[in-house]
Amino acid sequence: MRPKVFVTRVVPDPGLKILEEHTEVEVWPGDEPPPYQVLRAKAAAVDGLYTMVTDRVDRPLLEGAPRLKVVSNMAVGYDNIDVQAATDRGVAVCNTPGVLTDTTADFAFGLLMAAARRVVEGDRFVRAGRWKTWGPMAFLGYDIHGATLGIVGLGRIGLGVAERAQGFRMKVLYYDPVRRPDEEARLGLEYFERLEDLLPRCDFVSIHVPLSPQTYHLIGEAQLRLMKPTAILINTARGPVVDPKALYRALREGWIAAAGLDVTEPEPIPPDDPLLTLDNIVITPHIASASHATRTRMAVLAAENLVAVLLGRVPKHCVNPEVLRR
Ligand code: GLV
Repeated sequence: MRPKVFVTRVVPDPGLKILEEHTEVEVWPGDEPPPYQVLRAKAAAVDGLYTMVTDRVDRPLLEGAPRLKVVSNMAVGYDNIDVQAATDRGVAVCNTPGVLTDTTADFAFGLLMAAARRVVEGDRFVRAGRWKTWGPMAFLGYDIHGATLGIVGLGRIGLGVAERAQGFRMKVLYYDPVRRPDEEARLGLEYFERLEDLLPRCDFVSIHVPLSPQTYHLIGEAQLRLMKPTAILINTARGPVVDPKALYRALREGWIAAAGLDVTEPEPIPPDDPLLTLDNIVITPHIASASHATRTRMAVLAAENLVAVLLGRVPKHCVNPEVLRR
């Protein structure tokens, strides 16, 4: 009997092919995620789950899944999965680090540039038929070259953004619990032990931390009030790292100049969310890793991880490797 796998969304073919070689695969066909109750029922009858960031894999789901050996997330982040509950049940949790680093860093930089130079606002203006003439004072934004960029979280993606900033001759500061002297020397970065000391120095702040109880609302009213009134906040990590109510007030009352978000709290952002009434924010629908090539690499890696666990091999990326030794 081949092991059974449930895949929660249609993913690029090369990923599915790997699963089909070794397992009996069921793919949820919808454009939207399976409802939680459906996912729970599917989990109860399979050996492997192939999930997305939109799927909540919590303790009750894991406890009702006696055959389950692996949850393979097609994402680098895995805050949608209760890893402790999985570990308690001996279920491996896998993710896809590395393959999406550059694509996500490209997008973070794009969002930074779009917010600084009012690209999306300008496009809306043109489409609304309001472009009457060239204006010496129209659509003034903020320079990127030579500005000071603060990276919050110097992991793979944060480093990728710091590398891109070199081309714009930016000064790059970073805050992270772990200091990286090697990268400081390579890229000329300046380390800050306290976020509160970094924020007032930055023209741009870009967030690259995982979501955890420690990073929930890491950027709230107190932090936003420390930023320059000309500063721009970029978030391509997870929505709940920023307090959206505080961000709304900050953008509306001019504590900071603008923001670019690829992630929101909640997700999707409701159409009547007050943030959507503001011109000085660019919001995209969690697409930072969405290039053709990278989504294929993610689909393949997630499939390889899942199959490895089911075949009793060591997967490339497992966030709770202690379960593999049991
Ligand atoms: C996407 O958000 C990811 O974590 O890969």
